[in-house]
Amino acid sequence: MKFLLYLALVRSLLVHGRASWGNVDWDVIIFTQQWPITSCINHLAHNPKASCNLFPNMTSWTVHGIWPTKLGTIGPNYCNKSWDFQESEILNIEPYLIKYWGNIFGEDSRTSLWSHEWKKHGTCAAQLPSLNSEKKYFEKGLEWVTQYDYVAVLGQHKIYPDDVQTYTREAIFAAVKDMFGVDPSIDCIYNKKTKQHELSQIKLCFDRSLHLVDCDGIIGGNEAKVLGNCPHKGITYPASVR
Ligand SMILES: *[C@@H]1O[C@H](CO)[C@@H](O)[C@H](O)[C@H]1NC(C)=O
Ligand SMILES: *[C@@H]1O[C@H](CO)[C@@H](O)[C@H](O)[C@H]1NC(C)=O
Repeated sequence: MKFLLYLALVRSLLVHGRASWGNVDWDVIIFTQQWPITSCINHLAHNPKASCNLFPNMTSWTVHGIWPTKLGTIGPNYCNKSWDFQESEILNIEPYLIKYWGNIFGEDSRTSLWSHEWKKHGTCAAQLPSLNSEKKYFEKGLEWVTQYDYVAVLGQHKIYPDDVQTYTREAIFAAVKDMFGVDPSIDCIYNKKTKQHELSQIKLCFDRSLHLVDCDGIIGGNEAKVLGNCPHKGITYPASVR
């Protein structure tokens, strides 16, 4: 039996060349940033005992993840289960990761988000030579979070964090599109307490050469040609955790 499995593996290696990746093809990389204040508000709303790790003067969006994605599907995920997360690989960039790719949930460990993102998505991104180590994967996030600075991008269109002011989906979309020339995908979270849709995530998409492309083919709501799940208007961009 073992021998037959071995034969099947050899055959599959011969036929596909990279059989150990299994069925893990992908088309684009989604670079997802979150607005940490919205993430925190939502976290607290779901669990009254919860807490958040936020810098008191947080003025930047932070990375959620870099997600290789097959258009029209979610994933692939967990492409190499034998490639565990090693904190030692990223020790020297940790101060930056804490600030720009930090775990926001107070109950989870400092490394929980990194470990999760690496195992679920990083091991799939590692197909690309430019992302084939933990160090490269997390450094790419730090590079992109600096390059795609939504506080600045939205600010140029007079879209500022504010607990009262609301914005339209089109205005947020246009601010990102005007700056980078591609369709982003924009996510909101509905807050039952305030009955408001809060801006939560902005996604940009890259092809396998890491050039920006439209996010049009990704899953996540596609109404009215404005990608994402936000309503047309009444979107808040919260300035504080109320
Ligand atoms: C914001 O907080 C960080 C971390 O506590 C600190 O290093 C930085 O100097 C602060 N910036 C301002 C403008 O207060
Ligand atoms: C999966 O991860 C292990 C451990 O890092 C590595 O040795 C192996 O080459 C990886 N597999 C592929 C297909 O890259």
